[in-house]
Amino acid sequence: MRIVSQLQELNEALDIESNKSIGFVPTMGFLHHGHRSLIHESKKRSDFTIVSIFINPTQFNNQSDLKNYPVSIEKDLFILEQEKVDLVFCPDFDTLYNNEKPIEITLGSLDNVLEATKRKGHFQGVIRVLSIFFKLINPNYAFFGEKDYQQYLVINQLAKKSFPEIEIIMCPTKREQSGLAMSSRNSRLSAEDFEKSKEIFKVLTFCKKNFDYSNREELEKTCMNKLAKFSEPEYFEIRHSDDLLNNGGKFKNWRAFAATNLAGVRLIDNIALI
Ligand code: PAF
Repeated sequence: MRIVSQLQELNEALDIESNKSIGFVPTMGFLHHGHRSLIHESKKRSDFTIVSIFINPTQFNNQSDLKNYPVSIEKDLFILEQEKVDLVFCPDFDTLYNNEKPIEITLGSLDNVLEATKRKGHFQGVIRVLSIFFKLINPNYAFFGEKDYQQYLVINQLAKKSFPEIEIIMCPTKREQSGLAMSSRNSRLSAEDFEKSKEIFKVLTFCKKNFDYSNREELEKTCMNKLAKFSEPEYFEIRHSDDLLNNGGKFKNWRAFAATNLAGVRLIDNIALI
């Protein structure tokens, strides 16, 4: 496994592997089984797997969230070695952003709902960093988790408009035994809050069981109240899977989205309803 931090080293490695298909797994480190599953999918589909580790400041709307973001580079490299990743790219901020040529992407409805309203500027930051990575690496495939479903839609839009040759692949959410969606942020939960957090998936499952097109507003309220019993919810919303709008056709694919806080740790999750 090669570990590189400079653009020149990255380019040299890419030149050598130019006849191989490339799978790219971007991460902010503190790797868990969710990341491992993205790597497994990349290794299945491509000849050469690149993982990046970079905590991207431009996507944090909250400075304390950035400051508290967990870091474990040694352990991450150990995991990546175990997973037989081909190349790890760990650039610093200037290396990535110094020659940035910003691109304009309009996100439409995706930028006015759910995470976009709660974390102003977040998706613009994700787009900025991924545009840089995509330009540098030009992978055949890039892999993202279903837990961050809105992020997946945003990146799909970015790829469609600016990087049509890159296939964006969504991989299913990995869960703890309790049902909690795996996330680097889970490491900040106390034992007591970790216990409480399993209720989030229970509420989503309750929603799936009881979903009916005509009762969806009532169900949103019920689920919001259920979340409020053990945490400080930001939203519980039922929306179309393709555009995240909540009006229109009965026969669309619906999905429920939840965001809630446990002692300052912000957790999100979602479930396909039909
Ligand atoms: O999902 C993440 O960890 C980040 O948003 C990503 C895609 C690595 C961009 O910084």
